[in-house]
Amino acid sequence: MNLSRDEIIDLLNSEGEAAARLFERAAAVRDKTIGNGIYLRGLIEYSNLCVKNCLYCGIRRDAECERYTLTRGQVLAAAEHAWRERFGSVVLQGGENRLSAYIADIERLVKDIKTLSRGELGITLSLGEQSLDTYRRWFAAGAHRYLLRIETSNRALFERIHPAEDGEFDTRLQALHDLRAAGYQVGTGVMIGLPGQTVEDLADDLLFMRALDIDMCGMGPYIPSAGTPLAAQAVWPAERRMNLTLNMIAVLRLLMPDINIAATTALQAIVPDGRLRAVAAGANVIMPNLTPDALRKNYSLYDNKPLSFDTKILEANIRYGEWGDSKHFFKND
Ligand code: 5AD
Ligand code: SF4
Repeated sequence: MNLSRDEIIDLLNSEGEAAARLFERAAAVRDKTIGNGIYLRGLIEYSNLCVKNCLYCGIRRDAECERYTLTRGQVLAAAEHAWRERFGSVVLQGGENRLSAYIADIERLVKDIKTLSRGELGITLSLGEQSLDTYRRWFAAGAHRYLLRIETSNRALFERIHPAEDGEFDTRLQALHDLRAAGYQVGTGVMIGLPGQTVEDLADDLLFMRALDIDMCGMGPYIPSAGTPLAAQAVWPAERRMNLTLNMIAVLRLLMPDINIAATTALQAIVPDGRLRAVAAGANVIMPNLTPDALRKNYSLYDNKPLSFDTKILEANIRYGEWGDSKHFFKND
């Protein structure tokens, strides 16, 4: 559906009854275009080591948190669990690291996950900015989807929340293009309610995603993380950040009916049924956490990050054992 920037802004400002109508419309568009199935990706938080110092993130380089990297055995056990439970796919996520040993470890893990699941598990990676060569290696190993959030499409805001020495906005954009060139289904996303962000910025984020012709999106409310530099700055109330996130999901569904949109964990940090509300607003992907219990607390990107999600309530809609690829990716135009 084509919407002008002004129409998008109006829809993003929907409240109460109008918001309820927007969600119904978005869910109907999803059901008609790609069906009412919900696809699971088992989330494996591989490591909280990170070379970057993003001003908002609880595992930034300077954060004083306990660092861990899962062992091969832990990753493969989590993947095997996902396979046995017929999750369809796993996501390997982690902080940024570009050492050659790390790149080789990931390559080997991807191959091993493919082997142990007899090629049945789809593999999404979310491991930050890497070289085109690395993206190609991991793709050749068997990964076929990649998530890399732009965080905000407003260049000035991006620069305010990322230290200059960690790389520029254009580097992130280039990485998104490289992922496409390497053959991945490409996902991006933004945080909603960043200090200084406006509803106009959010409308531009949606237009950015459409211009980039993304296949998948994961976006969630910004949640201050105690001890990070950005946490000192004022933000919209949590309820507004959540409502805007739901509106963003619904409007993106209207703009890009056949992409995959995740109901992200950060929503559930604000209200217990946050991810369910995202599904009702047009999302179609859920990423239950499969990181070993004892380590989950260390992958603390923001305060109050939920450690689990109960899929029972969505049981009737969950499509077990399917990859749930982005329909958009296979479209020819
Ligand atoms: N609030 C919400 N999301 C956050 N992320 C990192 N820190 C925060 C925070 N404080 C998100 C970023 C990143 C993803 C892995 O986690 O969007 O891309
Ligand atoms: Fe590292 Fe990602 Fe956190 Fe930035 S948002 S500090 S790249 S883990």
